[in-house]
Amino acid sequence: MKRLQRLRATAPLRDMVSEIGFGQSQLIQPLFLAEGISKEEPLGGLPGSSRHTLSSLLAQFEKDLAAGVRQFLLFPVPAQKSNRNFAAEFVGTALQQMRQRAGSDAAIWVDTCICSFTETGHCCVHDTRGRQDLAATHAALGTLALTYVKAGADGVSPSDMNDGRVAYLRKKLDEAGHDLAPIMSYSTKFASNFYGPFRDAADSAPQFGDRKSYQLDVRNRSDALASSRRCAEEGADLLMVKPGQPSADLIRPINEQTGLPVGAYQVSGEYTSLVLLAKEKFVDFDAALIESWHNLRRAGASYIITYGARLARGLGF
Ligand code: PBG
Repeated sequence: MKRLQRLRATAPLRDMVSEIGFGQSQLIQPLFLAEGISKEEPLGGLPGSSRHTLSSLLAQFEKDLAAGVRQFLLFPVPAQKSNRNFAAEFVGTALQQMRQRAGSDAAIWVDTCICSFTETGHCCVHDTRGRQDLAATHAALGTLALTYVKAGADGVSPSDMNDGRVAYLRKKLDEAGHDLAPIMSYSTKFASNFYGPFRDAADSAPQFGDRKSYQLDVRNRSDALASSRRCAEEGADLLMVKPGQPSADLIRPINEQTGLPVGAYQVSGEYTSLVLLAKEKFVDFDAALIESWHNLRRAGASYIITYGARLARGLGF
């Protein structure tokens, strides 16, 4: 059965996909939780964001809730890298405490990828001959997704681009009784040069090669559309283009072809470029940030993942 109710479960989810109005309800704030660090580490490449300890994460989360943020995307960064055994208990603990603090006032999504967990820094597991092991990758993603949802995440956001992962996650969640947990799929995600500051934050730079064998080629529109269509067919509830502004041309076509809400990820390189322009006094940061959100909304974005979500209220947005 096709469940259309998943995005109606709570007020933050309903507001996020509301087709009327545009404000902080449609902005998603990323948060980085790093296991095994003893104090908060502000990110040079992403001013305003940090790699958090559990306690600094909770403090930031409370501040953000007080500033009106209603959507969060959590990025786990484990202490130990591995080839197969990915331990995410630290994420479960954080989610339980976040849920306790937020109740149903906020939606908490968890980025579900393994590039911060693998020794290789790739978004997939490799077999002993160095080839992508799709079955093992799916299994790892499934285990992580269940850990997150059981601990209180509203939904999962697969950001790897491995074939078949949305169908696999949907099945795993359904079998475990989480048939109402939504999947926000990074569905049209390009192999982009604009993820640099993020990879430092998540400690997820590939140790060899690049991500071009699984992420999309920026030259190919048809593949980019097909990728989102397939996520929709596999059961994704929300789709996304990434990087945001450079993919703005695809947002409306994807929505028209699938009928699903399509968001945009204003990625680290896009955000930091505004910070740097402002530092050199070439732009007014606040005005440029708001313009960038309006641009994405005009292009058809239902929601925007942005490192500046927590600034919105202060900007009168
Ligand atoms: C993990 C992931 C990445 C981003 C979000 N999830 C990096 C990548 O795919 O290399 C990028 C986010 C950003 O740049 O802000 N797969």
